[in-house]
Amino acid sequence: MSDSEKRELIAEIQRQQNVLKALLDQEQSALTELAKRLWAQQESDKARLSRELHDGVGQLLTGLTRRLQTMAHTDPAVSELAEIAELALADVRQLSRLMSPTILDDLGLKPALNWLCRNLFEHEQITYSCEVDVQPDLPKDISILIFRVTQESLVNSIKHAHSSAVTVTVKQHFNMVMLNLIDNGKGFSRENITPGVGLASIEDRAKAFNADLNIHSSPEHGTRISLTIPL
Ligand SMILES: Nc1ncnc2c1ncn2[C@@H]1O[C@H](COP(=O)(O)OP(=O)(O)OP(=O)(O)O)[C@@H](O)[C@H]1O
Ligand SMILES: [Mg+2]
Repeated sequence: MSDSEKRELIAEIQRQQNVLKALLDQEQSALTELAKRLWAQQESDKARLSRELHDGVGQLLTGLTRRLQTMAHTDPAVSELAEIAELALADVRQLSRLMSPTILDDLGLKPALNWLCRNLFEHEQITYSCEVDVQPDLPKDISILIFRVTQESLVNSIKHAHSSAVTVTVKQHFNMVMLNLIDNGKGFSRENITPGVGLASIEDRAKAFNADLNIHSSPEHGTRISLTIPL
């Protein structure tokens, strides 16, 4: 084979490589779009369930609590029942809000994350700080991504880490948003854990947004989760 034939062959192989790469990129972005649509669907299913919980069981419990509270005036034994009904109502409300935080739509990311922290840490011996500094026009799907990653990570810190302090920070710089979640708990190493759905799910969500997710954790040194999302 002559030199010029070799050069042509190499050029042809490169052309074919480029075509293949373009096809792969197309497939990749189609998959990413599909994943995003799937999560959007999940979020709207959760919103529907959340409303049904609120308007169904929630309203029934509200009626029950009112009636028991009225009866408690004449029969003190009923006041205990009224308190139980009130607790059940508070639980249903909290579940409904965690499932679909309308506060995110109504007031934005900062109040929603503050509300999430207050709710999750209310009965825990954990001190926390939550600093959120983002533009008000942050896209809704990015807000949901940040909210869900924070929710999963904080629940993990409560469930697994036995930490005494947690910090949540969200900052926006030009065309990116950075989320940092730090706990001072017992940490973990990837080789020694039983994989759950939570971490895998936040990794998948991050990937779909081309976001950079880093989970730094080692036994006894706490856990730091950083998410950098391009806008
Ligand atoms: N902040 C943390 N501190 C200590 N260990 C953690 C922390 N986050 C996760 N882990 C460990 O990693 C494992 C996997 O976490 P992951 O969130 O994927 O699953 P899970 O919380 O066990 O279940 P779920 O599917 O409900 O989220 C946990 O079981 C736990 O051992
Ligand atoms: Mg989890």
